[in-house]
Amino acid sequence: MLHATGSKKELTRLAYYALVSDILEHADVQALKQFRHHRYTTRFQHSLNVSYYNYLLCRFFHWDAVSAARAGLLHDLYFYETNAYDRTESPGQKSHSAHHPEVAVQNAVDRFALNPLERDMIEKHMWPVTHRMPQYKESYAITFVDKYAAIVEFFGLGAQRMLSHIRRKQTV
Ligand SMILES: [Fe+2]
Ligand SMILES: [Fe+2]
Repeated sequence: MLHATGSKKELTRLAYYALVSDILEHADVQALKQFRHHRYTTRFQHSLNVSYYNYLLCRFFHWDAVSAARAGLLHDLYFYETNAYDRTESPGQKSHSAHHPEVAVQNAVDRFALNPLERDMIEKHMWPVTHRMPQYKESYAITFVDKYAAIVEFFGLGAQRMLSHIRRKQTV
């Protein structure tokens, strides 16, 4: 079963899946399941959420939804726990928020053929934290969807956890 958080749709049955299956099934993308992301989910699930909702948003506006879906899966392609990033190693070192898009785009180009739009979306997904302006409307879309997904994952899943904890306490 493959679902985006907040959606009951089985993604493997949708046209969406055929557009991204080569990325989705890649061992290094599957490896993102090992990393916690936004406290309550995994980096794989977060990437899937950004990919699917970015796809829907861009398809709605008749923008490049295929690139939106593919870049969404790759936008956080880094292989370490976020809180393991050590900012104190050298003076002037970038924050993790500013640094990880560079890591992700390098990891993505090492493994997949990216078009300029996909590359821009990955590199600029943290705008305005990173200062370089997005070049495409789809890149603005991913900056929005990434933040939306983070809020749903952190507060939505966090609230669910808290409610089920309270329910468990009440049944004891
Ligand atoms: Fe990110
Ligand atoms: Fe992200």
